[in-house]
Amino acid sequence: MSTRFDGRSSAKFAALAFAAFCGIGSAQAADKQFLIGFSQLGFDHPWRVAMNDQIQAEAKKHPELKVVITNGQNDNAKQVADVENLLQQKIDLLIISPNEAAPLTGVVKKVYDAGVPVIVVDRSVLGDAYTMFIGGDNKLIGVKAGEYTAKWCADQKLSPCNVLEITGLSGSPPAQDRSSGFAEGLKKNPAAKVVASPTSEWQKEKAMPAAAAAFQANRNINVVYGHNDDSAAGAYLAAKNAGLDLKKMLFVGIDGLPDPTGAIVSVMQGRQGASFVYPTGGAEAVDWAYKILVKKEKAPKKVTLGTDEINPGNAAEMCKKYGCKSN
Ligand code: FRU
Repeated sequence: MSTRFDGRSSAKFAALAFAAFCGIGSAQAADKQFLIGFSQLGFDHPWRVAMNDQIQAEAKKHPELKVVITNGQNDNAKQVADVENLLQQKIDLLIISPNEAAPLTGVVKKVYDAGVPVIVVDRSVLGDAYTMFIGGDNKLIGVKAGEYTAKWCADQKLSPCNVLEITGLSGSPPAQDRSSGFAEGLKKNPAAKVVASPTSEWQKEKAMPAAAAAFQANRNINVVYGHNDDSAAGAYLAAKNAGLDLKKMLFVGIDGLPDPTGAIVSVMQGRQGASFVYPTGGAEAVDWAYKILVKKEKAPKKVTLGTDEINPGNAAEMCKKYGCKSN
């Protein structure tokens, strides 16, 4: 493992400590903060907004930390440029949620090789040239979604039970893991089969036409499994537009956000059948940044975050647990 510091960090910390010792006011001491660059892959998704909010909220707890967030606009080249830019700004630590693994691997390595600690969150890069990875277990969540679907199909006595899988962006590792995990879980019921797997690239606007085309090709789709809740929600609208009998269908997704348009409320209101919480890791990333930079702790290479299944039986309880508001 690999927690490395560059000289700048220690110098800034020493200056901060000196300022505090001399009783210099917080405005002056704030000049000596540690600068964290957070390269977010894009801002146009509720899950990303939740992650940014959690990062800001956690950073507020630590006056020693200042966070600059950049918007990759779901574009690998833009995100690479963002990271180069943050490096130029002499950040003390990089937090990054990479759009796709392969195109972002080089620049992450460049930062790490320059002696700046790197915390990769949610979507991984290739290889291990970073300080630590924090994220949910996408394979496990995929297995759980597959098992849930397999059981629902059996309970409905559907044979065959046709599943439309709407996949995330193919170069982002969660999409691969959510797919292979789902296939594994689905094996529990041989009558359940994936009949089509178009991509939404994580976007609701792309899920809608993709699902519409699938429903046109096959009117006997029983289940929609979206790699995220937005994909399931887009497919729900497409199914409604296609005049399908929504009560006879199951819509399953992943993310489980507590906001009014998120899946906890959707499950409570009976649109989505189930979802699985995929924590953003934003708070944990800043907490680890604090431990690395200020407490000089050695970080583990990997921190895996937990999940919760949200179903009609526990959605109200999950709503309380995650602090959601229904509209
Ligand atoms: C996967 C993911 C999804 C989320 C999407 C948003 O990396 O976090 O769970 O819906 O990205 O961009």
